[in-house]
Amino acid sequence: MLRRLHPEQPDSFAFTAANQQWAEAQVTKFPEGRQASAVIPLLWRAQEQEGWLSRPAIESVADMLGMAYIRVLEVASFYFMFQLQPVGSVAHIQVCGTTSCMICGAEDLIAVCKEKIAAKPHELSADGKLSWEEVECLGSCTNAPMAQIGKDYYEDLTAESFGNILDDLAAGKVPTPGPQNGRYAAEPLKGLTSLTKYDSGRTQYNASVQLASDLGDTVKRIDGTEVPILTPWLGKDGKATATKSAPKPPKAPAAAKPAVKQVEEAKAAKEDQPETLTGAREGKPDDLKMLKGVGPKLEGTLNELGFYHYDQIAAWTPEHVAWVDARLKFKGRIERDGWIEQAAKLAAGEETEFAKRAKKDGTYED
Ligand code: FES
Repeated sequence: MLRRLHPEQPDSFAFTAANQQWAEAQVTKFPEGRQASAVIPLLWRAQEQEGWLSRPAIESVADMLGMAYIRVLEVASFYFMFQLQPVGSVAHIQVCGTTSCMICGAEDLIAVCKEKIAAKPHELSADGKLSWEEVECLGSCTNAPMAQIGKDYYEDLTAESFGNILDDLAAGKVPTPGPQNGRYAAEPLKGLTSLTKYDSGRTQYNASVQLASDLGDTVKRIDGTEVPILTPWLGKDGKATATKSAPKPPKAPAAAKPAVKQVEEAKAAKEDQPETLTGAREGKPDDLKMLKGVGPKLEGTLNELGFYHYDQIAAWTPEHVAWVDARLKFKGRIERDGWIEQAAKLAAGEETEFAKRAKKDGTYED
């Protein structure tokens, strides 16, 4: 396939401030005179930011690294992971079409792409949200057929489940990646034949999916705010040791707040805080892992914060959600996974689809 620059190009490219900082930090990994070694990470970050690599982006990376434009273009046009044309504003779908996937139904998935996205690969859908292409083996053959969407793998697909995923993406949702047929990871399709007992501490999803689900950035464009700028190679804790920073001037004492303001603030803070408990009622906590997105670790965190029961969560207001969210490692999942709706159902003694599934596969039954 001929890979060349797209005929329509933007006028300019610039990393966001955070991405610029990240990119500059990457360059320091390499010895003086070897800055070109950072070309792939920098191109990748440019693509994560914009969705694809434009000519200005390629030239900007070349300028940063002191490389000739053609050298960076060679890299960008050689590796298929770099997109040289605009992709869907929401997601670019990469369907594996190699042997295992082809035997297991990749052609059906491609037919879905043609029907729901565009007749030809690399064409945008009518609403501009999605694009697709066929790619070579992505190393997930045991879970064939599969597709990579953004940073994550969606495996054990059927035309129907794949179609639903595309519909969800077009509707602004981020489906849970990983096997779509109930498999945990890459164990035998008919169930475990050895080591048949699961570790009680295993996470809700397999490690890759759990991390993807916790981060929730499957199809998100990266603006740099998500990734702390770590440069451990420069010194302990990622802090540069080469230069000694000047001592900071002593902080001026903060002006005391007026008493009325303090009372108002304390009152507002209290109103924002949901009701918490020091322990489960009658020592019987609800199984919070029945909520989609809550694994053993997160359940522990919720218990530490004082939440043990479905009805507590069902009663959260938007202010309460913000209060809890600020105390969780991964933000936004309460709304994303619909905890409140699920908790309301479970508190009323009803089942949710997720709880049924979790109970059926036995993962979280107490
Ligand atoms: S053949 Fe599709 S992932 Fe390997």
